Amino acid sequence: MPVHNPQLHPLEVDETTGEPFLRLLSHPNIILTPPRLTDGPAMIPLFNDERVYHWLSSPPFPYLPEHADWWLNHATEKSNKILAELEAARDESTPKLVDGCPVTTIREVKEDGTQVFLGSIDLDLAGQPWELEGSGRTSQETPRRDPSDPDIWTIGDYLAPSHHGQGIMSDAFRTLMQQWGIPRMGVRRMVVTALDGNKASVRVFEKKGFRLRKTIDEAMDVRGTKRGVHVLEWTLKPGVDFK
Ligand SMILES: CC(C)(COP(=O)(O)OP(=O)(O)OC[C@H]1O[C@@H](n2cnc3c(N)ncnc32)[C@H](O)[C@@H]1OP(=O)(O)O)[C@@H](O)C(=O)NCCC(=O)NCCS
Repeated sequence: MPVHNPQLHPLEVDETTGEPFLRLLSHPNIILTPPRLTDGPAMIPLFNDERVYHWLSSPPFPYLPEHADWWLNHATEKSNKILAELEAARDESTPKLVDGCPVTTIREVKEDGTQVFLGSIDLDLAGQPWELEGSGRTSQETPRRDPSDPDIWTIGDYLAPSHHGQGIMSDAFRTLMQQWGIPRMGVRRMVVTALDGNKASVRVFEKKGFRLRKTIDEAMDVRGTKRGVHVLEWTLKPGVDFK
């Protein structure tokens, strides 16, 4: 049996496929895995469902196979790059800090072992002007990791409507932050954006201790319509677990 790279901790490794994964803390039948180039057919109906795309600013509509292919090429490359960095650091004794999470796709593991694509959750450096406002930064290309002026991270997430309202995204966010974002990416501060009226998303953030900073009317153009945004913020407090 291969000896797994200790730098992957606390990710587990699927013995059959060799793929790393992270099990949700409160939904053990749900895992985060790397994106797969074969995910397109599962993504397309989700991004063409109004309950999902209406609340997302970037995916095009209608969402076509080429959009999924473009995205999956980008996302798998990003995940592979992080895994390669961790592999290169295999013999280092301290856990390496990396700029992203290699496991971003939410999948349900059925009793027969098959996996169903449910959505995605990803942490990235914030880039919207209202996210960087007040920080003295106009862009963030790479993390600075200055303890006296933490980088500003943000999140992008969506879940299949069949699974909404079961606490899955709240659990995925907690698991991702506690197990990877805080210890392995050095996330200390976040500013996140939800499109105006996205009560479920705002609620998920509030449950994690985010505070509403402001709501901005007509902040961005989303597929030809001006939409407002809610901006919420969070800073890690010493000794306080991410909820
Ligand atoms: C936002 C989203 C990721 C939430 O995922 P989820 O797994 O359903 O979220 P959870 O079940 O963990 O929590 C949802 C919370 O919002 C609440 N909620 C849901 N709809 C609501 C509404 N219309 N008004 C008020 N609260 C609402 C739920 O009651 C729950 O809060 P509770 O635990 O206090 O009862 C999911 O709805 C989604 O994918 N939406 C479309 C894409 C999207 O909006 N992505 C986020 C972009 S910022």
